[in-house]
Amino acid sequence: MEDGAPRIRRRVSVRKRNRGSLESLSAAPAPAELLPAEDPEEEEATGSRRRKTGSPEPAQENDSEEDMFGDHDSFTENSFLAQVDDLEQKYMQLPEHRDHVTDSATGALCAGDTGKKLSVSAVGDLTASVTNECVQSQSDVRVPVGPEAGNDLLFDVPSSQILYFESMQNSSNDLGDQSTKERVGNSHKPLNEELACSRVEQPQQNNDASNVSTSSETNRRKSIKDSLKSAMTGNAKAQTPVISRSKQLKETLLCEEISIVKKAIESPSDDLGPFYSLPSKVRDLYVQLKGIKKLYDWQHTCLTLSSVQKRKNLIYSLPTSGGKTLVAEILMLQELLCRQKDVLMILPYVAIVQEKISSLSSFGIELGFFVEEYAGSKGRFPPTKRREKKSLYIATIEKGHSLVNSLIETGRISTLGLLVVDELHMIGEGSRGAILEMTLAKVLYTSKTTQIIGMSATLNNVEDLQEFLKAEYYTSQFRPVELKEYLKVNDTIYEVDSRAANGVTFSRLLSYKYSDVLKKMDPDHLVALVTEVIPNYSCLVFCPTKKNCENVAEMLCKFLSKDYLNHREKEKSEVIRNLRGVSSGKVCPVLKHTIPFGVAYHHSGLTSDERKLLEEAYSTGVLCLLTCTSTLAAGVNLPARRVILRAPYVAKEFLKRNQYKQMIGRAGRAGIDAAGESILLLQEKDKQQVLELINGPLENCYSHLVEECTKGIQSLLLSLIGLKIATSLGDIYQFMNGTFFGVQQKILLKEKSLWEITIDALRHLTEKGLVQKDSRGDPEELQCCFRITKLGQASFKGAIDLAYCDTLYRDLKKGLEGLVLESLLHLVYLTTPYDLVPQSEPDWMVYFRQFGQLSPAEQNVATLLGVSESFIGKRASGQAIRKKVDKGIVNRLYLSFILYSLLKETSIWSVSEKFNLPRGYVQNLLTGAASFSSCVLHFCEELDEFWVYRALLVELTKKLTYCVKAELIPLMEVTGVLEGRAKQLYNAGYKSIMHLANANPEVLVRTIDHLSRRQAKQIVSSAKMLLQEKAEALQEEAQELLSLPPDLPGLGDPNTEEAGSHAGEATP
Ligand SMILES: Nc1ncnc2c1ncn2[C@@H]1O[C@H](COP(=O)(O)OP(=O)(O)OP(=O)(O)O)[C@@H](O)[C@H]1O
Ligand SMILES: [Mg+2]
Repeated sequence: MEDGAPRIRRRVSVRKRNRGSLESLSAAPAPAELLPAEDPEEEEATGSRRRKTGSPEPAQENDSEEDMFGDHDSFTENSFLAQVDDLEQKYMQLPEHRDHVTDSATGALCAGDTGKKLSVSAVGDLTASVTNECVQSQSDVRVPVGPEAGNDLLFDVPSSQILYFESMQNSSNDLGDQSTKERVGNSHKPLNEELACSRVEQPQQNNDASNVSTSSETNRRKSIKDSLKSAMTGNAKAQTPVISRSKQLKETLLCEEISIVKKAIESPSDDLGPFYSLPSKVRDLYVQLKGIKKLYDWQHTCLTLSSVQKRKNLIYSLPTSGGKTLVAEILMLQELLCRQKDVLMILPYVAIVQEKISSLSSFGIELGFFVEEYAGSKGRFPPTKRREKKSLYIATIEKGHSLVNSLIETGRISTLGLLVVDELHMIGEGSRGAILEMTLAKVLYTSKTTQIIGMSATLNNVEDLQEFLKAEYYTSQFRPVELKEYLKVNDTIYEVDSRAANGVTFSRLLSYKYSDVLKKMDPDHLVALVTEVIPNYSCLVFCPTKKNCENVAEMLCKFLSKDYLNHREKEKSEVIRNLRGVSSGKVCPVLKHTIPFGVAYHHSGLTSDERKLLEEAYSTGVLCLLTCTSTLAAGVNLPARRVILRAPYVAKEFLKRNQYKQMIGRAGRAGIDAAGESILLLQEKDKQQVLELINGPLENCYSHLVEECTKGIQSLLLSLIGLKIATSLGDIYQFMNGTFFGVQQKILLKEKSLWEITIDALRHLTEKGLVQKDSRGDPEELQCCFRITKLGQASFKGAIDLAYCDTLYRDLKKGLEGLVLESLLHLVYLTTPYDLVPQSEPDWMVYFRQFGQLSPAEQNVATLLGVSESFIGKRASGQAIRKKVDKGIVNRLYLSFILYSLLKETSIWSVSEKFNLPRGYVQNLLTGAASFSSCVLHFCEELDEFWVYRALLVELTKKLTYCVKAELIPLMEVTGVLEGRAKQLYNAGYKSIMHLANANPEVLVRTIDHLSRRQAKQIVSSAKMLLQEKAEALQEEAQELLSLPPDLPGLGDPNTEEAGSHAGEATP
């Protein structure tokens, strides 16, 4: 029940905005204007101050100062990869697919006859014809959505969707049996009731809807599309039994319901439709897939707020585990299904994006929308245009920003109906916060019709955010599972109690007999605290540093009774076996020792494959205790009965209330735990500060837009001018006023006004040759216009941190003078991320050894860069060096050595051993380099003088991105399938996306080690979604190729008809 009264605050916008024009960037950019290079020392100093977001962490020395897993995206665009994927995987990586596509599509194109293409295979034939039948019945009830809807009915039932339905009920394949005679009943009843009890004849009405074609061209197009469709999904279909009528009926009913609720939504009435304006099937899916039978009271209240009904922007805030996601999901489904608009959901980390993709793919398949991943190297820019089904883009903060940029650039921002931001408080966190702020400000400025919804458990100064987002606010204190907070000082445990005088009351004394040795080894009584819960319940122990995580895990296992070894013994040895499988036969000695006790550590020193395996084992209860760093609280959704905070510190910083709330919020998750508790361990000396922490308010969040100058305000202004969102000083200033920073300027601005800051940032951009004044007159006049230079365009398109764009330009230019192509080393050097260099601390002995192993050509690269073997040798032997050498270049070359080794060996383990670095660090370096390589490629694409790099970087990016055996790449495209899992699947015979999309989850569970039923289902539905999405993208592409160019000469004059028919005739 809800115990906190919900309250709503309203705010009225205080400013009016001028909406910027959305012209495309077709105008030719000005030639690059390069100013003399800046002082390299200053340049490096700037670089060292700013650590690039999401990039690999510093080496272990900076232990867990910020343990972010490199789990968010470093760079804002990676469209190249998507294009490479698009072109290559279409035809190369899906060979079976390709054969069907090319052969049968060509055949059909020549024949121009739908019937003929169906002879691909007997089974395919049958399926296709049934599909057509199914479509026919759907067309009877479907309300056309767009102008072409009536002509494209076949697209509404993708084969993978049919397959999905089939597999959901494969036990009752009802073809030819009684149930094929099932017919639609009263469509106003809930779907489940309907199918259970009411079986009447299917109405056969309006059967002209799919048959009527008004022109011969339409007929021809449809036939081609049909051919492509059938052929492209041929492989999937080949294994498909014939579709059952009951599924057709479900589809039909769903369409009917959607059309009814669409009408309801468009009409001003208060009628909410079967399930919050959604088809009742959505409710059924929540019961079936998530076990949610009824909404919490607050969820109902929130969804029925009149402001929500009116699609006003909304911020809502509830404690952790309050069920915030469901509200956002229902609103997203309304937008996708009823308002037929695309939706963007921004989540903070790659791992969470993947989790969400997995959990929403089934909804997409069942309800007919796409779920598209924008994280890591995944995501297309601009996104594929869809004519019918809508897309739910699930993105990291960085990718979300790129997506919004590309929608603005292509004039498609109004297709975005809703933008949801989870963990909205992240807007106050460093450069990632600045990127989130830019994204929101751009959407607010360029699209009046996009609704914005933000949620968080830890918001304090909501008024500022409300003013920025022009949003209403809803809050409640509801938490379905009670969370009891405790503090432990010495052996006394206090309960946090807001009614008590100092905020705590005595709870109990810890009674556990400690030997002298144990007392010494475990002064904090961790053994006592964890053994109260494990192994039957799960426990998370948050530690201040990575090293501490490992030590605590080892210490605990030293003192745990041997009985713990017996608990789920077989499964635990399987975990170790699987770890070996993903790590070239090696297992970390600490994990090897702790896992048999059900204990493991979890931090960014592990590879993502290892982390995933440990998370899976913990979620299924095989492991009962994880020692982890603070980012696990926000990074991965792992619940616990008891959460222990080892100390009130994160690294050396005292804990913030927001962090504290997030960490303890992992305890007592709804649906998993019946109770939850947290215990914060503290020393007497920290008592006062901890009392302030638990009793105090949450921290305010503040804009970082101006603080992060090259990654904040300067890059924002560059993109405003580049995208032509605002090009005159007046408009730019107005835009700045509308940012979160604009709202907080009175608090944040001490020395300079916003006007001065804007002018300063523009001056910097002009001085760097990134923008140019476009008109005469004073650059401080409101009317003064700016345009982007070629260098500016390249930096913007490549999402290059403006602190490095000059250096990158210089380095690439120098590279042209003598690029060594005998090995990859030189190219790798040129794409080694600059922001990692300041933290790179070479191990000089290793450096020297590696240098000695280079071929003469590779040594030549070092010589060209000015790094000599004797210099490295002297450093290794500790000799004094008189000659001045550029430290930046030396350190960057060292990082290039690591990357080059990875490309040659592909084993993260052996490379990390060779360079004596944590494997997680090496993996993050690789990910960062892959992203940066793609950024450099985009940079080069905009500058003619670098044309030669383009082809080279295409290949290099691919090598860095996948760095695995080529055969695993298609499997790794599926959300959540990492290298280790891909290897297992490949070895078990699942070699392509089609294999996975058509796999039976039960068989997967039986044949793949350590794969839970839930994971198997998620892999299959993610693969189905991906396959469906790829097939449709190909269709869209074909459609685009066959369509009449709108600017075809002669289209506008009286001979239009003639021109059109000529074009039509010429196409096939
Ligand atoms: N109405 C409901 N009935 C039962 N379970 C629910 C309901 N709504 C949400 N849940 C479950 O509660 C759990 C927590 O929900 P959710 O992840 O949305 O929390 P949250 O508010 O986003 O918390 P956090 O701030 O920690 O992210 C989920 O497992 C979810 O499935
Ligand atoms: Mg949440």
